[in-house]
Amino acid sequence: MPGDSRSTIRIFIALWPEDTVRSQLNQLAGQLATNCEGKRIRLENLHLTLSFIGQVDKNVIPRLCQALSAIKQPAFDLSLDQVYFWKREGVVAAGMKHCPTELTFFVQDIRQILSTSNIQYDTREFVPHVTLVRNAKHRRLPDSIPAIDWRVTRWSLAQSRSTPYGVAYHLLANWALEPGNLDEYHRI
Ligand code: 2AM
Repeated sequence: MPGDSRSTIRIFIALWPEDTVRSQLNQLAGQLATNCEGKRIRLENLHLTLSFIGQVDKNVIPRLCQALSAIKQPAFDLSLDQVYFWKREGVVAAGMKHCPTELTFFVQDIRQILSTSNIQYDTREFVPHVTLVRNAKHRRLPDSIPAIDWRVTRWSLAQSRSTPYGVAYHLLANWALEPGNLDEYHRI
């Protein structure tokens, strides 16, 4: 934030969809927000969180970026093919019936790096999802949705900021996923 003198920032690591996927998710968010009487997530804010870190000192960012740069992860495909309603949170989200192995390993690697870097993160079980609607009042979901296929080729460290217009995300660093097969990098 220009002129922001605070010494801590709220950060997380996430996948940001490319335009076609983003626009499909946006359309779905619009339909579900109407059905469930909730507030749709703005197009530019649609993302899939890999690891939520939360509040950190700004000075940590260069060290964190350097540590995360060690991750060698191939590009992979995922398919958003189901929707969830989490009543307690009032959240409607797109998720997947099968989490790709690459995504599971990717999150494991990120968590490992954060742990060895002494950076605390949300250690709850990873449930891959893209939040589409908040403050949803009703569980009015379709039985099925047309799958949204997403070729994941990049990932980001993002900052979350509160603004008078709602939350805004600022990408602090981006990494490309490398071409190749999972077998080249991992242990299967
Ligand atoms: P959500 O969409 O399910 O709320 C930025 O806040 C991102 O980090 C959101 O995608 C949010 O997920 C995710 N996140 C994960 N754990 C969080 C936590 N403990 N507090 C806030 N956001 C969290």
